Amino acid sequence: MNIITVKDYQEMSEHAGKLLIEKVNSKRKTVLGLATGSTPEGLYAYLVKKYKEGNVSFADVQTFNLDEYVGLDGDDPNSYMHYMKHHLFNHIDLPAQNAHLPSGTAEDLEEECNAYEKKIEDAGKIDLQVLGIGLNGHIGFNEPGTSFKSRTHIVELDASTRQANARFFDSMEEVPTQALTMGIASIMNSREIMLLVSGEGKAETLVKLLEGRVTEDFPASILHEHPNVTIIADEAAYSKIK
Ligand code: GLP
Repeated sequence: MNIITVKDYQEMSEHAGKLLIEKVNSKRKTVLGLATGSTPEGLYAYLVKKYKEGNVSFADVQTFNLDEYVGLDGDDPNSYMHYMKHHLFNHIDLPAQNAHLPSGTAEDLEEECNAYEKKIEDAGKIDLQVLGIGLNGHIGFNEPGTSFKSRTHIVELDASTRQANARFFDSMEEVPTQALTMGIASIMNSREIMLLVSGEGKAETLVKLLEGRVTEDFPASILHEHPNVTIIADEAAYSKIK
């Protein structure tokens, strides 16, 4: 794994943005894997800025998001579709039909998962997957214990994950209990992965990732087995690494 340490959140976002834009500008039909959460917000702001300055176009890009809550439709302010529109899609030239998220309101969720996986395959693999990391090591919504062989599937969210994400909702009861997520094998199938880690709150998580062993109890640990992973961590997140 290639580890890049930067000063702070701003630098992490810009560094990630530069790598992503380089990727998009180097291949006409780039396929991007995108993440939600607080971590990539700065990255998306940077992409919007660079798009507006004319440094990048997403007209030929396809995007696949990692996950979506079950039960929230795309107009729900807490859905990941809404998040993506708000932070990125509404401000760039990515054609709406090129932006993919699994639908958390599909009638048959199993079928939706299989169709999503197939769509990624048909697009010809993800060139660059952006990842954040949950406090318990989850990537996408793959909670501890998820099989490394998993493909897009339905998950029961951990109590700790619901707690961590409750800040976006009015009350704990409103936080969905289930989500659809790309699986670990789906993520590992990407050609390249960029993991962003920021803030003191993630420092212990980063220690577990960098100093721990590869185990399904800590989903992100599988990244040690991917041939092309870059971690961009800010000083606060990196502060507990020996
Ligand atoms: C969420 C998302 C993940 C994200 C993680 C960390 O639950 N499903 O894709 O990477 O948790 O979120 P944050 O960046 O807000 O810390």
